[in-house]
Amino acid sequence: MALKQPGVGIAITGCGSAAPTAFLDNQQLSQIVDTSDEWIATRTGIRQRRLAPPTQSLATLAAQAAQGAIAMAGLSPTDIDLILLATSTPDDLFGTACRVQAELGAARAVAFDLTAACSGFVFGLVTAAQFIHTGVYQNIVLIGADILSRWVDWSDRRTCVLFGDGAGAVVIQANGRDRLLGFELRSDGTQNHYLNLNYQPDPKHLTDDLEIGQGTFQPITMNGQEVYRFAARRVPEVIEKALFRANLSIEDVDWLLLHQANQRILDAVADRLNIPPEKVISNLAKYGNTSAASIPLALDEEVRQGKVQVGDTIVTSGFGAGLTWGAAVFQWGR
Ligand code: COA
Repeated sequence: MALKQPGVGIAITGCGSAAPTAFLDNQQLSQIVDTSDEWIATRTGIRQRRLAPPTQSLATLAAQAAQGAIAMAGLSPTDIDLILLATSTPDDLFGTACRVQAELGAARAVAFDLTAACSGFVFGLVTAAQFIHTGVYQNIVLIGADILSRWVDWSDRRTCVLFGDGAGAVVIQANGRDRLLGFELRSDGTQNHYLNLNYQPDPKHLTDDLEIGQGTFQPITMNGQEVYRFAARRVPEVIEKALFRANLSIEDVDWLLLHQANQRILDAVADRLNIPPEKVISNLAKYGNTSAASIPLALDEEVRQGKVQVGDTIVTSGFGAGLTWGAAVFQWGR
């Protein structure tokens, strides 16, 4: 905060999204694992999920979302100073943001990945804001993109019903008035084991007395009940903290935009905070949990349908593996 330049605030001036065209509905899923449309819909609210074909790169999906956001903001790719790609499913462990930069033709932009699982978008929003608040950058593209279908255990009915693929992006610009009104970010690594996409090393001898581990990442494992408990308890807390920092109360909130994990979590959080259902943004029936993409994907749909209007106050919260969770309060537009 001490470094914040007087008069340099942020505004979110554009959004975009992209999703694979192929989808799998609950009925089709019940032919893969022992489940039913009724079980999935009542326990999660999810009806279908988009799935990326083998030829789809994360970079291309992310770049498509970013193009929409850059166009809405009235900018061209060469105006962009920084590209932040929030993802847990990169094309390349060295980073995928530079591939996105190349696809966009954003030649001036520095680009890097940010990993915070389903909190990636909120953590990225706050990170981007710091670069603008300090006066370093003016135009930032923040993308949340994930292809979790590549890391789901398609024989585990407790997890495979939840996840889908997609990308969402926003353009964040320097602005006279700061539209980021408050935030709170949290992590708790002691609960890391509740949700993982772990690397498993295979021991390999290089010489008689020198061993290294060369393995692969293993499919997602999750303790659903613990993750549910964590989200229902911790998300309202950070939202209240972010609103306190913004000097706002629940009545000032126009939209509750949560990470789209599960309709029951959305309902429980809204209920706890006394936010009426008509203010709760939800599109998870169509996409499932798209991890870092879910918040900007839902935002983009609401903005393009004309529901979210310039000046609306949105409280958003991401939560998930890490464990990580966070909330931010912002006003849409300049
Ligand atoms: N279809 C049918 N039955 C299923 C099933 C499926 N897809 N998945 C689990 N079940 C069964 C279980 O085997 C269990 O059966 P049993 O009682 O005979 O053992 C029963 O349903 C209840 O399982 P349980 O795990 O207690 O269900 P739940 O009510 O906790 O719902 C989740 C499971 C995953 C939907 C829920 O825990 C949840 O949403 N957690 C949060 C997950 C999340 O959002 N993760 C991402 C965070 S970013």
